[in-house]
Amino acid sequence: MCIRRPGACRPGRCVLVLPMTIVTWRGPFSNGEVNLLHSQAFKTRAFSDDEWDWVTLVERHSLGWVVARAGELLVGFANVLWDGFTHAWIQDVMVASNASRQGIGTKLVVVTRDAARAAGCEFLHVDFEPDLYDFYIHACGFQPTPAGLMHL
Ligand SMILES: CC(C)(COP(=O)(O)OP(=O)(O)OC[C@H]1O[C@@H](n2cnc3c(N)ncnc32)[C@H](O)[C@@H]1OP(=O)(O)O)[C@@H](O)C(=O)NCCC(=O)NCCS
Repeated sequence: MCIRRPGACRPGRCVLVLPMTIVTWRGPFSNGEVNLLHSQAFKTRAFSDDEWDWVTLVERHSLGWVVARAGELLVGFANVLWDGFTHAWIQDVMVASNASRQGIGTKLVVVTRDAARAAGCEFLHVDFEPDLYDFYIHACGFQPTPAGLMHL
């Protein structure tokens, strides 16, 4: 479904005008939905359910996950890892490209923050490319901090 917003469409890009988006902690989702959303958001090929079994992974390893739906349609998702005690990490934050800049990404982070806090966590971590500084630091409220990353 693609509802055109007046003036928002140009060839090759159509913006979804969303009905109310519901953002749910540990909401139900299917592997096919998240693999499709991942391919759209990160511009990768669509992994098959056998290659990337999100349902099993998040249930086994994550503190939780966040699902954003506009009606039936999955428009956002985030995976939330943790150390089992005080630190949580938000990972794989993704919003459908035709639903971006409507506040969904920010809501995914707010719901994650509240759920991690309710689980007893004291810190929520994220790492990101420099072009997302405005999103994570200004819009979502993370504080900039030195961090390290090792490619394995
Ligand atoms: C990054 C992403 C999650 C943002 O989701 P979103 O729903 O578009 O974000 P919001 O609408 O909540 O954005 C809030 C504000 O953050 C900033 N922002 C959002 N996306 C931005 C981007 N790509 N570049 C710079 N600033 C951005 C803007 O200030 C925006 O406010 P504005 O629309 O009034 O200018 C989404 O674009 C996405 O899925 N990107 C591809 C996957 C990805 O890179 N994920 C992050 C992995 S670390």
